[in-house]
Amino acid sequence: MSSEKLRVLTGITTTGTPHLGNYVGAIRPAIAASKSTDFDSFFFLADYHALIKCHEPEQVRQSAREIAATWLALGLDTNNTTFYRQSDVPEIPELTWVLTCVAAKGLMNRAHAYKAAVQANEEEQQDPDFGINMGLFSYPILMAADILAFNAHRVPVGRDQVQHLEMARDIAQRFNHLYGDTFTLPEAQVDDNVAVLKGLDGRKMSKSYGNTIPLFLPPKKMQKAINKIKTNLLEPGEPKDPDTSTVFQIWQAFASEEQTAWMRKQFAEGIAWGQAKKELCALINDELAAARDEYERLMADPGFVDVQLRKGAEKARERAGRLLAKVKTAVGIPPLA
Ligand code: TRP
Repeated sequence: MSSEKLRVLTGITTTGTPHLGNYVGAIRPAIAASKSTDFDSFFFLADYHALIKCHEPEQVRQSAREIAATWLALGLDTNNTTFYRQSDVPEIPELTWVLTCVAAKGLMNRAHAYKAAVQANEEEQQDPDFGINMGLFSYPILMAADILAFNAHRVPVGRDQVQHLEMARDIAQRFNHLYGDTFTLPEAQVDDNVAVLKGLDGRKMSKSYGNTIPLFLPPKKMQKAINKIKTNLLEPGEPKDPDTSTVFQIWQAFASEEQTAWMRKQFAEGIAWGQAKKELCALINDELAAARDEYERLMADPGFVDVQLRKGAEKARERAGRLLAKVKTAVGIPPLA
């Protein structure tokens, strides 16, 4: 039965528009993995997590729509995976409370995201708690509930999330110790082979740096965005170093081995930056054009996306519900007779 398979789960916070970095680093490998029937996979929109850093309802709503449409347009098979919104599974916030009551406050004090916010306040001579909501402080507990509600074995994440996985394990262990073996200890899966794409300014492509290239820009706008990638001042005809070039790095993330070798040669032969950027836009377009059309169709037909998400939420609730019942009974809140 499917419940015997390795359970793989990951969440996507719904702030912002999916960009090329998200695609190469997370979405593309996740969708490829989701096609395998060897795993029982869960992908969800972490919309409650979004509320921690975004108090703009329209932005939260729009981002969730874009992310859902993106994953579906890129071929996520919702029959072979469970794809849902966190907020449609009330068992998750219920479990969050139970876990909040076993999680050590001292553990939360050590969370990087929280500590960074405190440190930023201190550097600006502010009250250490300035602008910090309890959501940020408790973030790792909600994330633990996301994972433990399905007893996921494996959680593909970026390096920055590894500490949260350690905290989820810690909380699960503490619960198991207090109430008996209930939760599987999840493991972070950090893939060092997937590229961390560089953004327009050469730093890691990230929404917080404002240096992203949105995934599904129409071709003309995509070319405009790519033209903004920072390069040096070398003229056409002058050899260029591919290994320090953002243009080349993004090329490589979309190219076959032959195409990569070909572009390396173009760099050595002094391809003009403008020409290299044109080639890059065409290459990206080859990979994404069909999905972009589907994305536009889905954005114009939110009903279809909603049906998929509702189906996922039903599957998710069924499974999380069973575990939550066990958890509540274990802590002394069994169902009424
Ligand atoms: N915190 C994750 C991030 O910002 C998103 C997330 C929320 C998540 N819940 C999760 C990832 C559960 C994996 C498992 O990237």
